[in-house]
Formats: sequence, structure tokens, C-alpha cells
Amino acid sequence: MDNKVKAYSEQLKELGIEHVILEHPHLEKSEEVQGYFGETIETAIPSLFMKADNGYIVLLKKGNDKVDLKRFKKILHVQDLRFATKEEFEENTNLPFGAARAYIEGFPTYIDEGIFAKEYLNGGTGSFTYTFKYKTADVKKIPHAQIISVTVHDANSSTKRVLSGIRATGRLHLGNYLGAVKGMLALQEDPNYETLYMVADAHAVTTPYVVEELRKNRREVIIDYLAAGLDPQKSVLFQQADVPEHLELAFYFSSVVTIARMQHLPTFKDKVKQYPEHATMALLNYPILMASDILVYKAGLVPVGIDQEPHLEVSREIARKMNQEYDLDFPEPVRFKTKGEYVPSLTGEGKMSKSVEGSYINLTDDLETIKSKLAKAPTDSGKGRLNEISSGVSSLLTFVQLFEGEEKRKKYEDAYQKEGIRYGDLKRELAEAIFKELEPIQKKRKELESDPEKVNLIIKEGNEKARVIAEKTVKEVREKMGLL
Ligand code: ADP
Ligand code: TRP
Repeated sequence: MDNKVKAYSEQLKELGIEHVILEHPHLEKSEEVQGYFGETIETAIPSLFMKADNGYIVLLKKGNDKVDLKRFKKILHVQDLRFATKEEFEENTNLPFGAARAYIEGFPTYIDEGIFAKEYLNGGTGSFTYTFKYKTADVKKIPHAQIISVTVHDANSSTKRVLSGIRATGRLHLGNYLGAVKGMLALQEDPNYETLYMVADAHAVTTPYVVEELRKNRREVIIDYLAAGLDPQKSVLFQQADVPEHLELAFYFSSVVTIARMQHLPTFKDKVKQYPEHATMALLNYPILMASDILVYKAGLVPVGIDQEPHLEVSREIARKMNQEYDLDFPEPVRFKTKGEYVPSLTGEGKMSKSVEGSYINLTDDLETIKSKLAKAPTDSGKGRLNEISSGVSSLLTFVQLFEGEEKRKKYEDAYQKEGIRYGDLKRELAEAIFKELEPIQKKRKELESDPEKVNLIIKEGNEKARVIAEKTVKEVREKMGLL
């Protein structure tokens, strides 16, 4: 055997690092070595020789796991971090470039914890004809090695996380469905995203409410989610208040937000106008809790209606401030937009909202109810110039577009300028189109209502899954803030 390799093997034995010596033809690429042994890069342990500010370090990681350089820099407390050049490598290690050893004496070694996912990994020996099969548990014995977490080592953590929620204040309406739930569904079906959807039950106490109704609604929203097609196999469905870390993190976040910033939010002002006797601290804190809902999962994408944009802006500000002050890595979340990001009120004034009577159609409304609600929607003479169209009719045309398509809307617009629109026909057809979309949701809802145990289990499992992620973030924040 090559003397150098022999000496290296002895050195490892002395350290108690178990390894099997593998011999092979001259091969320079680790993929080729792995292929020669019928393995893939997944079971290799490349040693990365890197230059950090003015010194050199070694990083051991598993296979193709991607190194998060930004995170690694923070761990090392350095400004600059890059891979060493061939010259730098050879000059400093006396080893041929491409044949780095797992243990390179004289340099600080960092071990990414991802390596422990495998019992054995193949690594370099300083020779192109020998490879060692290292027992990963022993790699820790490299003198002064530090175990860190700097790679993306499972498929999931490289996917983007999505979080959204709806307050538990009543049954869902078409605004919620088109503005939020449709976006949630689209992202659930995309394998590039990991989706978490909650019922914002803690947010429900920010405005006056009835205890027994909240107890019921926090469950009903989950049933609505399931009926609309959210699937517990694909998304984590849970109740906000059952993951108390949301509330804890919100308090820490409140330390980087001024009172003035919260008081000036249009959403706060609107609610104070609506409930002048209830301008509470909980209401003032609403956007901070929402930021916590999103960031406790480090979610970067949030499917919600356009009315939530000011809240997302607050979430981004909080993420930035926390990252700056406490060296955290929160993403700055952005809104996932849908076609129905602004569903108008049936009255023609403002948006559809459960707090405005006569403005909404619920997902549970039957055909007769939809017809009678549409019948009350204001119209006009049915004829005239398009730019003079009333706001009530403009709303109706938005619904036509959303449920019957662009073409149909154009037809009505033409009619408006020529022979005139017959609103009775328009409303009947529209009611049928809306009901056609809601009918399967209502059927599914009936099934779910008859199986409360199944729903309970879905909620319980969702709460547990969400909590595992949330606990990790809160722990990290407490550490960085000096509370652990
Ligand atoms: P509401 O205004 O009826 O109380 P919420 O505030 O609970 O509804 O909103 C829940 C979700 O539904 C949010 O993502 C919100 O943006 C969306 N949403 C509510 N109303 C509408 C609407 N009229 N158009 C589009 N999205 C809406
Ligand atoms: N504020 C949202 C609404 O009124 C509900 C909500 C609470 C939410 N927390 C969230 C939405 C987190 C998205 C993400 O509809």
C-alpha cells in the first residue's frame, strides 16, 4: 500500500476512527470512485477546504448536500468565505487536489450534522487509488472538530414553505375562497412547496366574540378547508392556538415594533371604527401575531387576498429587524396572488366580508339562497355607456368573470352598450354557475360532518406537526435574544 495512505490509516486508528480501506484504479472524481463501488455521491463524504477571512478551514458534509454559505459565515463569524483554489489547497495540505482527506491535520474541522444520516460514508485518503469507508459516528473524534448544521440535507428543507390562515369568525364566503383558499390549493398541489394552513383562532379574540361560537368555528374552518380540497396528506392543517409558540414569538417580535407603526395601519383604524369600544392591545398586536404565524415556520410565501398586503409589509419589516439585530435568517414573506384577490361585495360597495350583512355568499349556501342573495344585489337600467356602469353592476360583472369566464363578461358588456342586459337572466345563470362550483364542496362537507373522529385526528396530527417546526424556531430566537 502507498506509504502515505498507510500512515494516514494509522493516524486514524490512533484516534479511534474506524475505517475500511478500499482499493481501486486511478480515479480522480468522487462520482467515478463511487460508481466503481456501485454507489452514488449520496454515500460520499467530500472534504471542502475553504478560505475564511485569513485562515483555512475544512468542512465535511454528505454527498451533494448544498452548503449554505451565508449561514456558515455567521457560524464562523467571518466576512469572507470561499472555496480554496487548487494552488492554495496543494500548498497548504501537501495533498493532490481532488484527493482531500477527511482529517487534514492542522486546520479547524467543521462537520455538518447531515453526515450522521448514514452509518458509513466514503472519503478521500490523499491518493487517487485508495478510498476509506469511514464510520460516520467516529468522524467526531477528529481533534477539535465542531459539529454544525450548514447544509440543506433533506429534500423538504430545500422546498419553499407556505403559510396561510383564516380567522375563526364564521363560515367561509366566496371572498375567502377565491382570495385565499384557491391559492392555498394551487400551492398544495405544487411539489416545490411545503404547505401549512391554519385556522387563526387566536386572532379571533382581537374583536368581540362569543366563546361558544369560537369553540365551534375553530373547527368549522378546518372542515371548510377539507371540503374545499385541502388534503392532510399534502398540507399541514392546524389550529393556531394549539401551537402556543406563535404567541410566544409574537411577544418577542413586539420588541422591534413601535406603537406608532401599529396605530397607523389602515386595518387597525378600520377595526377601531367598527368597534370603537374595543380598541384593545390584542387588536393593536394583530399584525405582530400574523408575522409570527408566518415566520415561526420561516414561510416565504403567503396566499391571501390583497387586503392583507399591509400586514405582510409589517411581517417583512419584522423579519428584517430581527435578522439585523439578532443575526437570524427569517425570509421576507411575499403574497401569493390569485385571480380572485379582490372579490367585491354583492352590494357593490367595498369588498365581500363576513362582517358586512348582504355582502357575501357562503360556501355552504344552496342554490335558492344564492339566488335570493343575488336578487338583492343592486342593478341599474341595464343600458348605457360602459364608463357609467354602476358599482353594483360592476360587481356582478366581476362575479360573471370569475365564475363564467372572461368571454361571458365581454358579452354582457357588449349588450350593455346595445340591446341592454336583462338582469333576471344574468343573475339566474350566475347563481347556477356559482352553485356548480360550490356543490362538490358542500357534498364533501356533509361527509366530513358525519365523521367527527376523522376530523379530530386530522387536527391533532396537524397541530403536532406544526408544533415541531415552531418549537425549533422559538428555541433559536430565544438563544439569539439571550433568553436561553
Ligand atoms: P373577512 O373580511 O370576511 O373577515 P378574513 O379577514 O377572515 O375575511 O379573510 C380571510 C382570508 O380571505 C384572507 O386571506 C383575506 O385576504 C381573504 N379575503 C377576505 N375577503 C376577501 C375578498 N373580498 N376578496 C378577496 N380575498 C378576501
Ligand atoms: N389576517 C388574516 C385575515 O384577516 C388571517 C391571518 C392570521 C393570516 N394569520 C395569518 C393570513 C397568517 C395569512 C398568514 O384574513
